Amino acid sequence: MLFRTVIRPAMFRLSAQDPENAHHWVMNGLAFASRYPLLLKLIKVANMYRSPSLERTLWGLRFPNPIGLAGGFDKNGLALPALAALGFGFLEAGTATRYKQPGNERPRIVRFSAESALINRMGFPNDGADEIAARLAQQPQPVIPIGWSIGKSKVTPQEEAIEDYLYSLRKLNPFADFFTANVSSPNTPGLRKLQDKQPLDQLLQALVEETEHIAQQAGDQQAKPVLVKIAPDLTEGQIDDVIDVCLSRGVRGIIATNTTLARDGLRESTTEIGGLSGRPIHARSLGVVQYLCKQLDGRLPVIGVGGISGPDDAMRMFDAGASLIQIYTSFIYEGPEVVKKMNRALAL
Ligand SMILES: Cc1cc2nc3c(=O)[nH]c(=O)nc-3n(C[C@H](O)[C@H](O)[C@H](O)COP(=O)(O)O)c2cc1C
Repeated sequence: MLFRTVIRPAMFRLSAQDPENAHHWVMNGLAFASRYPLLLKLIKVANMYRSPSLERTLWGLRFPNPIGLAGGFDKNGLALPALAALGFGFLEAGTATRYKQPGNERPRIVRFSAESALINRMGFPNDGADEIAARLAQQPQPVIPIGWSIGKSKVTPQEEAIEDYLYSLRKLNPFADFFTANVSSPNTPGLRKLQDKQPLDQLLQALVEETEHIAQQAGDQQAKPVLVKIAPDLTEGQIDDVIDVCLSRGVRGIIATNTTLARDGLRESTTEIGGLSGRPIHARSLGVVQYLCKQLDGRLPVIGVGGISGPDDAMRMFDAGASLIQIYTSFIYEGPEVVKKMNRALAL
């Protein structure tokens, strides 16, 4: 209530010129809180909703609830303890790249408040795998599952993409419970081409083999799961190809979906470049999850993401067959209350 009536209007007004400013204020606050156990406790008391009926186990990992934060919010893993204290059941950090990069020119996030939507063209601004890993080594890690999303650095030529992803995987391995190969952001030139069958096959084979190699060296029974995140703009034929590759290469789950290049659902036409997220993409993301789950028939878990704004959307994703869900844009528009609301409804 407080978020929607006071905090959000104030933050949106103060960041009208560049909505990304609001993101950095929130991130700074959460990163600060992450360093103080007492503050984390207070955040937990205000936000956490627990119920044994919400617990899930996947890939041998225990999720206290099935609602996660989607990739892109905490790109550098600066505020994971505070984000966990807000009540999420798991977090996807990143997308991180091998090389530190500034991303696209600002402003690069546009709000469409009437539709609870955003267009972003961030382009993976992040500190790079080395710096991120060095910092994480000094920080306490939250106890919920953490996935690290990895992507291709802008400066890396397409032919060297696999080595680029592998570098980040190796660096972030000590801090990840699972990895997501992000091949679906529309804001890195050529990235989405990695969703085509042959390059996807080569990339995912290399990533899975690397996790197996790491597990073998460490004497672990099980390699860490590698997941792949896909765009909502794929045709059914392309989704079939992704499924084939995932099943043959030992990928352990599919995250659907990233942002869309389509502009359906916006009231006014726009020339803004980037990926659209939020309410307008829900129907499309849900359709992709439904199709995936039907084709997979339980052979791989699917994480549903895209325009989930409340309990009804969440239920629809689970009814479609999603094992877990993630949110991003509704977290911006509704605040942390949305996580609690969904968990409370799911626990009934
Ligand atoms: C500002 C912004 C930045 C994002 N950055 C990333 C990213 O770095 N990696 C990623 O996998 N997805 C990224 N996404 C996509 C989200 O993780 C999510 O897949 C998408 O927004 C759809 O979910 P939503 O409608 O709940 O936001 C980003 C989304 C937004 C709005």
